[in-house]
Amino acid sequence: MHTLILHQTPIEYRNESSQKPPQNVQESAQISAEQILQAAKNNTATLWRGDFHQGKQLLAALKKRVRKPSKPAATPAEIFHKHRLAQSQQSREINMLLVEVGVNFTVDLPRAPDVQAALLDVYGVANTEAFLLPFNQLLGFIGAHEWHKQGVPISALGGDKIHVPFGVFSPLRGEYLDLVQQIRLPENCHTAFDIGTGSGVLAAILARRGVANIIATDNNPRAVLCARENIARLGLVNQIKVLQQDFFPDGVANVIVCNPPWLPAKPTSAVETALYDPNHSMLHGVLREAAAHLAADGELWLIMSDLAEHLGLRDSGSLQQWFAEYGWHIAAQSHTVPSHRKATDERDPLAFARQKECTYLYCLQKNSFQAA
Ligand SMILES: C[S@@+](CC[C@H](N)C(=O)[O-])C[C@H]1O[C@@H](n2cnc3c(N)ncnc32)[C@H](O)[C@@H]1O
Repeated sequence: MHTLILHQTPIEYRNESSQKPPQNVQESAQISAEQILQAAKNNTATLWRGDFHQGKQLLAALKKRVRKPSKPAATPAEIFHKHRLAQSQQSREINMLLVEVGVNFTVDLPRAPDVQAALLDVYGVANTEAFLLPFNQLLGFIGAHEWHKQGVPISALGGDKIHVPFGVFSPLRGEYLDLVQQIRLPENCHTAFDIGTGSGVLAAILARRGVANIIATDNNPRAVLCARENIARLGLVNQIKVLQQDFFPDGVANVIVCNPPWLPAKPTSAVETALYDPNHSMLHGVLREAAAHLAADGELWLIMSDLAEHLGLRDSGSLQQWFAEYGWHIAAQSHTVPSHRKATDERDPLAFARQKECTYLYCLQKNSFQAA
């Protein structure tokens, strides 16, 4: 826990990003974005004491002020790394505007909304001591809570919704789900593992396709809770068990499905652990260990996009080489193109790569099975 000193008393400082915390805090009900940035240079955050809506306007001004064009870069990988670096620097500056959250998630500012349900969604238990939080994150939590309540309709579940809180990977960009819905199931497939289940969506699709026993795992406690809730809501508790753990449960399955983070890079917050995986470590872990958890004729269904290749973060052909090195062959594969807005957003510095992106479902079998 990190604390700042406010009125000579320590107060907890919370931040979902792994940013270096500020050293000091000043209070203000009237300040410009420029003055906040000046203070930030001296590692001093600004605690907003004015009207909530004016605070939102100030935050918007701050965001505009910190947005700078990316530095020129020669290669796709350089563009990616410079873009991430710029994003993280800008995020640190934006997060220098704070709000105080009082006991039981109250915000004592004129025209502040009721944020209790949104913060309960994020933190699980109500707070008994006040804490400081970046204003921008508070707004993010409020937005995420609305999305959570609303849910995401999933065509592969006949339009039924999956509800996803802050901090869990959302299947909003769901083209890969149709691949899992459409791929042929092996004969007599009664057991499946879903590794890194997130919202539980892939386990739910398999259950709806008739797989009787499914074990879903995730090492993120927020994901485990979310998956359990979705599975209960969809009436699938008799078919799916969700466990909080790394990688594989005990036993063997006919199918193992896994959608690991697609980009080999370091996450800068808990939320990013579903997107970025340093050196593809989850992917390697699954390719290395899955064979021991599959029935003899079992299949590993791996979902991967080739975005990393278009960004120059992975050589083309590496994936196929790793499959071979770990003793797998591709028994079938299908692919789709993303339909999400980012793919066509010209303002996104990574649009050049996203426009070329394809998402693949590889159906892998053990080479030993092929030989038999
Ligand atoms: C890209 S998300 C996929 C979520 C979901 N399966 C889907 O397709 O929507 C990857 C998930 O893997 C989880 N994860 C990462 N490393 C893991 C590990 N070693 N063991 C279990 N889960 C892991 C993350 O917490 C995250 O929920």
